[in-house]
Amino acid sequence: MYDFERGIERKGTNCVKWDVPFIKQTDLPMWIADMDFQIAPAIQNNFKKIAGQGAFGYQFLSEKYYQSVMRWMKQRHGYELEREEICFIPNVVVGLAYAIQTISKPGDEIIVQTPAYGPFFEVVKDNNRVIVENRMKNENGYYTMDYEDLERKITSRTKAVIICNPHNPTGRVWKEEELRELAQICEEYNLYILSDDIHSELLSEGNRHVFITSLSEKIRKRSFIFTSPSKAFNLAGIHVANCFIADEELRKAFMENASKFHASESNAFAEAALTGAYDESGEWLDELNKYINDNLDYFVGEIQQNMPGLYVRKPEGTYLVWVDFRNAGIDVENIQEVVKNECGIIANAGDFFGKEGEGFLRFNVACSRDILKDAVNRLKKKFGSK
Ligand SMILES: Cc1ncc(COP(=O)(O)O)c(C=O)c1O
Repeated sequence: MYDFERGIERKGTNCVKWDVPFIKQTDLPMWIADMDFQIAPAIQNNFKKIAGQGAFGYQFLSEKYYQSVMRWMKQRHGYELEREEICFIPNVVVGLAYAIQTISKPGDEIIVQTPAYGPFFEVVKDNNRVIVENRMKNENGYYTMDYEDLERKITSRTKAVIICNPHNPTGRVWKEEELRELAQICEEYNLYILSDDIHSELLSEGNRHVFITSLSEKIRKRSFIFTSPSKAFNLAGIHVANCFIADEELRKAFMENASKFHASESNAFAEAALTGAYDESGEWLDELNKYINDNLDYFVGEIQQNMPGLYVRKPEGTYLVWVDFRNAGIDVENIQEVVKNECGIIANAGDFFGKEGEGFLRFNVACSRDILKDAVNRLKKKFGSK
């Protein structure tokens, strides 16, 4: 039994979530995607060993690292991964940049399904590629891919679609049939798939994650899969992630692009983090998922039952809750400010995820139940039935 109730004191550790200057002492930060829990003991022990080495020169990844990734993918996800498919990257967004450079030229178009994680827009624009938005359908808070719109938006300059599975911010975990339909379109139009599966181990009860590359060898050959232990095991500050690329030519080109930036070497703690997570912390993760699932039930249930102006559905994956404030009687552009000033809660503004996010806030419930109850009480005072 691991103790998620206790949470962890993060104030004063220079963590973005709690310590950036605009956050007041009394505010509850429910933004940014990291967790207020102590990491798994096995990872902590690995870190202690590394810290005890006393020397922190240049590092390389050992064979153990690669075996650990392959074993995890097989045991956790039922996914057979070849050793050579694994490309280390320090973090997912930089890997997206390498992939974009690998499969397109400046001026080419990259499709993003919106609402979308904010840096997807930036990484496309920063590389002088053109963003094409494929807006998802939203039926009573249940988001689905709009394939017709997707096909309409494809031109001779379209090179790739970026997908996110589980989807941040809507919490959808794409079903096999949904991925299959998308994959067919990408095959037909020769598009690459950049699939961000960083949240793939954070699943609400009853949900199963499918990697799009498990659908066919053809799709596997035109896809980049991005994973990391950083979300499920709370290791974003360590910088350890992987991109799986099955096609040899594509992989070579990706690695060449990566090497131009001289920034993709491993660090002393990366292997310790990943092996501690993947080799020894599966049980910890199972318990974490149960705790988060209960937090989601509580938070979503309270909103549904007691806050009539807000609308929400339980996410299928992630610890992020996408709440619709469009009927809350607040001007769309002021929602984040009102929730900060009147409830003392920091949530991500919906427009961080694109135009479709206007009128929404994203809440992170990866915190102790006590903090979550405090947050719910604060929200109820403002949004509860009178
Ligand atoms: C969907 C998604 N992708 C990528 C990231 C960032 O990953 P990294 O820090 O590895 O670039 C996040 C962080 O919140 C995320 O939610």
